[in-house]
Amino acid sequence: MKMTNRHNLFAYRLWAPVYDTTLNRVFIAGRKRAWAVANLQAGERVLLVGAGTGADFPLLPAGVWVAGIDLSRDMLAKARARLPLPGCDVALARADACRLPLPPSAFDVAVLNLILSVVPDAGACLTASLRALRPGGRAVIFDKFLPDSARLSAGRRLTNTLTTVFGTDINRRLGDMLPPEGLWKVVSDEPSIGGGLYRVIVLRRTG
Ligand SMILES: C[S@@+](CC[C@H](N)C(=O)[O-])C[C@H]1O[C@@H](n2cnc3c(N)ncnc32)[C@H](O)[C@@H]1O
Repeated sequence: MKMTNRHNLFAYRLWAPVYDTTLNRVFIAGRKRAWAVANLQAGERVLLVGAGTGADFPLLPAGVWVAGIDLSRDMLAKARARLPLPGCDVALARADACRLPLPPSAFDVAVLNLILSVVPDAGACLTASLRALRPGGRAVIFDKFLPDSARLSAGRRLTNTLTTVFGTDINRRLGDMLPPEGLWKVVSDEPSIGGGLYRVIVLRRTG
């Protein structure tokens, strides 16, 4: 099944009431690592792509300014209920991460936790996120990927039929979604939870 915004709206309407107490518990270690490598400094402007229920909010350091976007009103309502955050300025808006309505170079850091495996067009989402960064800005990604060199097995294809119904695609390759070279550089790429199925990746905007 292909991921679509229509299906995501349906799936994340169902996930919204239970996400924080079920699915999110699995991700804590990877999420913590993503924010550690983001290495945020006070005063930095952070773009949180696919903010969801705001599960990342407890990990935000004081003194940063955050703009979070998400497609799902239901997930955003949960995130809004966590605000205000002491010491952080957080603004949330409903938007499609594949068509980010953002000025170029507006952010120092983009954080893409568990979103590139969900949006219909991961390449458009990643390109738009990188374009929203100032030159030298960094994008941090925590998500699951099929290794670029790996063959897509029948088992994994079958499993994906189920996971897409639940709102995520386990068979995307980072290499397929990276925008043309010249805009980014891979700074680090490390295995995370799920025996390396999940990875924490840092890209730097170069162009
Ligand atoms: C697995 S959740 C991850 C949420 C959050 N980033 C986290 O780490 O908990 C995926 C999120 O992507 C959002 N989403 C799905 N399609 C989207 C789109 N086209 N644009 C923006 N957000 C989208 C869903 O509403 C959901 O909140």
